[in-house]
Amino acid sequence: MALSHHVILTSRDEAKGRKATAELNGDKNLTYHPLDVGSDESVATVKGFVEREFGRLDILVNNAGINYDTWQTAVGADLEESHYTMEINLFGPWRMSQAFIPLMKKKGYGRIVNVSSGAGALNGMRGGAPAYSVSKAGLNALTIKLAAEVQEANILVNAVCPGWVRTDMGGSDADRSVEEGTKGIIWAATIEEGNGPNGRFFRDGKKIEW
Ligand SMILES: NC(=O)c1ccc[n+]([C@@H]2O[C@H](COP(=O)([O-])OP(=O)(O)OC[C@H]3O[C@@H](n4cnc5c(N)ncnc54)[C@H](OP(=O)(O)O)[C@@H]3O)[C@@H](O)[C@H]2O)c1
Repeated sequence: MALSHHVILTSRDEAKGRKATAELNGDKNLTYHPLDVGSDESVATVKGFVEREFGRLDILVNNAGINYDTWQTAVGADLEESHYTMEINLFGPWRMSQAFIPLMKKKGYGRIVNVSSGAGALNGMRGGAPAYSVSKAGLNALTIKLAAEVQEANILVNAVCPGWVRTDMGGSDADRSVEEGTKGIIWAATIEEGNGPNGRFFRDGKKIEW
């Protein structure tokens, strides 16, 4: 909003989403719409809304993420829960990208930011948090695949780790504020025209290993 973008804020829980929207001082450049990235129907509804109301989507931030399952091991993990984690953390961004890339292609512009995690980096990966880590490794792979397929259309797709952030997921001991965590996401969302990076993994605007 501060950068003059019109932002569409989404959440599954409509009451929570509308409250958050109102707390942002009724900014005129902010619109709320419900979204469950795990549902084809919900994604199709928000896609229709964006097409009707705006006719374009310049930036897609795939931020929704769940289940940092540090209490699990790959050997003993609850597979039903792990499956649902993939549904949200991997297929959610995939579903959203499939929905909006055609609209971006039509306008010849797009920036997609997949909010990933260092936990998904294969380089140095260890045991623990299996569903979350595998889902984010999958998201990183998806980032590379999509980036390679859309670069001719002036669409850049990158993955960003926000660092350890004080959110519901990160907890109060995390070393970064939400503002600090979002800086790198905003950077990737607003990469300027030209030879911007595509299909890369960043933290704080600096390339990190997959
Ligand atoms: N916090 C950290 O330290 C950290 C570190 C590395 C990466 N990340 C990544 O950063 C992103 C944001 O995480 P966070 O820390 O803000 O986690 P969070 O506090 O748990 O928030 C998760 C967000 O995901 C949304 N969400 C969950 N399921 C959804 C669904 N099916 N459809 C739509 N939205 C859904 C939730 O929205 P509602 O419940 O309101 O619908 C909520 O806004 C995630 O991708 C996470 O993996 C976080």
